[in-house]
Amino acid sequence: MEVTQEVNIGSKISNWYTENGRQNLPWRENVTPYRIWISEIMLQQTQVNTAIDYFNRFMAKYPDLETIKDANEDDIYSLWSGLGYYRRASYIYRAKEAIHANFSGRMPEQYKDIISLPGIGRSTAGAILSIAFNKPYPILDANVKKVISRIFYKNSYEEKSFWELSEQMLDKKNLFKFQQGVMDLGSQLCLPKNPKCLVCPVSKNCLANIKGEYPVLAKKKVQRKKEFLKFNLIRFNEKYFLTKDNTLGYWKNLWIPPVEKNKLKAFDIIHNLSHRELNISFTESSEKHPKLSGKWFSAEEIKKIAVPKPIFDKLVSNE
Ligand code: ADE
Repeated sequence: MEVTQEVNIGSKISNWYTENGRQNLPWRENVTPYRIWISEIMLQQTQVNTAIDYFNRFMAKYPDLETIKDANEDDIYSLWSGLGYYRRASYIYRAKEAIHANFSGRMPEQYKDIISLPGIGRSTAGAILSIAFNKPYPILDANVKKVISRIFYKNSYEEKSFWELSEQMLDKKNLFKFQQGVMDLGSQLCLPKNPKCLVCPVSKNCLANIKGEYPVLAKKKVQRKKEFLKFNLIRFNEKYFLTKDNTLGYWKNLWIPPVEKNKLKAFDIIHNLSHRELNISFTESSEKHPKLSGKWFSAEEIKKIAVPKPIFDKLVSNE
């Protein structure tokens, strides 16, 4: 007698990944805990397509924990140039120091040890444990949240139940494929508008698809304080004058052009930080001997130092 078994959601997703997943993303090849860690930190706030080149450059310079052992913070910052959210580079520096000091230079395998490392929260710890160490820990990033809100028809985010559902869905026999698959499903099929349910492997299990109504979770509302900044791009002999002056109170350790608060509420671009809305304008001048202390950099050199994203975009693409 033939017995038909309900194939669970998890294994449907991992099977789908085998056929349809983006298996050539660089962090999905030559998997090591180190490579998964660095990629997951990058992917916390950076789109996959942007992260690829940065990841490859990072791995070319520091392929493993041994080669990154003696890197200083600026070395790591330089690989982050233009990527934004530089705190992540600082976390990587501090975490690799801790790994060498406390874990004999190897990525720890226990949840409590991994979560103790700077920059690693529950979801990133879950990614490292499940993807690299094959341990059944859930991930709950934006993609997974979206998939859960659809399959289980949840109109609002609720932390405890979403973690439980993420854990329940796991395909424990194929953790790597499942985790990569659920993230691909979230980004490629389970779109906010016009989700691609016809090709989705779990459409028959999906309450949203059954109802024909697709929840879209609200973005967390943050109040950003407006700030008006005027950067003075001092250019001489094809080089820009940058300082490490910290009058802004953020962008510590980054190279910036001399800056003042702009009394005119004028701006060329808006750049959001987590709690600030920066309204940025640029002026240009040519001084040979600026009064502040700083250094001169060509556009090529700027690509190798840590410069805030809006400044990077302005100076490097100005060429
Ligand atoms: N976002 C976070 N982690 C990811 C991964 N491993 N693959 C694709 N997108 C991701």
